[in-house]
Amino acid sequence: MALLEVRNLKIYYFTREGVVKAVDGISFSVSEDETLGLIGESGCGKTTAVFSILRFVVPPGRIVGGEIIFEGRDIIPLSDEEMRLLRGEGIAMVFQGAQNALNPVMTVGKQISEVILEHESITKEEAWERAKSQLELVGIGSERVNSYPHEFSGGMKQRVMVAIATACNPRLLIMDEPVTGLDVIVQRQLLALTNSLREKMRLPIIFITHDLSVIAETCDNVAVMYAGKIVEKGDTVSLYKDPLHPYSKGLIGSYPSVRGEKKELKSIPGAPPRLINPPVGCRFYPRCPYAMDICEIEEPELKNVGDNRLVACHLIK
Ligand SMILES: Nc1ncnc2c1ncn2[C@@H]1O[C@H](COP(=O)(O)OP(=O)(O)O)[C@@H](O)[C@H]1O
Ligand SMILES: [Mg+2]
Repeated sequence: MALLEVRNLKIYYFTREGVVKAVDGISFSVSEDETLGLIGESGCGKTTAVFSILRFVVPPGRIVGGEIIFEGRDIIPLSDEEMRLLRGEGIAMVFQGAQNALNPVMTVGKQISEVILEHESITKEEAWERAKSQLELVGIGSERVNSYPHEFSGGMKQRVMVAIATACNPRLLIMDEPVTGLDVIVQRQLLALTNSLREKMRLPIIFITHDLSVIAETCDNVAVMYAGKIVEKGDTVSLYKDPLHPYSKGLIGSYPSVRGEKKELKSIPGAPPRLINPPVGCRFYPRCPYAMDICEIEEPELKNVGDNRLVACHLIK
């Protein structure tokens, strides 16, 4: 059984301008030894999808359908208290700019140990020791346990956030653009850290980024999201080598060498549609170089085409 299984999840924002169908029926799963990448242009619903897992979506946003099954139970109906416990112990998250969420007037050791004390009945001394080993784990060193956030660089602060997120030994870690906005050297260090967490803690991870080379280096599998839908999913190596969905082709085509120089995702002309009244049929057809008549009318289903590859495209039989 999968560790996490998301079924037909829909999250809409009820705004004055209309209903933004940010996530509109996505299904995917993550197994206990998997690192799943989630890619797609900005505005395609990646953050909304993972925020909903930890109930971080706030009004006007709302989960309007679907199930989020974690370790065999649907977590959407959980009470706020049950959800509070699940955060940290069950599922933890590091997000873009998370380092700014550190408390400037509290030592990092205190911040890490407080999170542990919130979830576990151990002594303050024990929590303090755990905080020190967390700082070792993320490569900062336990001797910095009494430092304040302002004594750290941006990259080190992001490491502290990883230390906090993993302090209660979560069974799933979600990272939403954790390296975006950091310089390249720091990005590399955080990626190495992510890979070592996988190995040391055997921690399954959902990793979101618009940087495809990062996914290539960290993720077993990758899901491509477009306009609130998953349009393709498969193992990273074969999907990168042979993307089937025209959107994936466009995204990956904009990266001539995955390990080479990074480019922005701009090889696909146009932009994702607004998600108030998205196109009927395939949401990608207005930008698709291969669009056929049917694409405008009928939404393609996400189909298994073998070798663990799923694609939603009328071109693929
Ligand atoms: N609080 C909000 N209110 C209204 N619309 C929102 C809100 N947050 C996100 N959206 C919309 O939801 C869609 C998906 O956004 P998001 O999940 O942030 O995508 P991504 O993480 O892929 O960039 C976008 O169209 C965005 O404008
Ligand atoms: Mg986002």
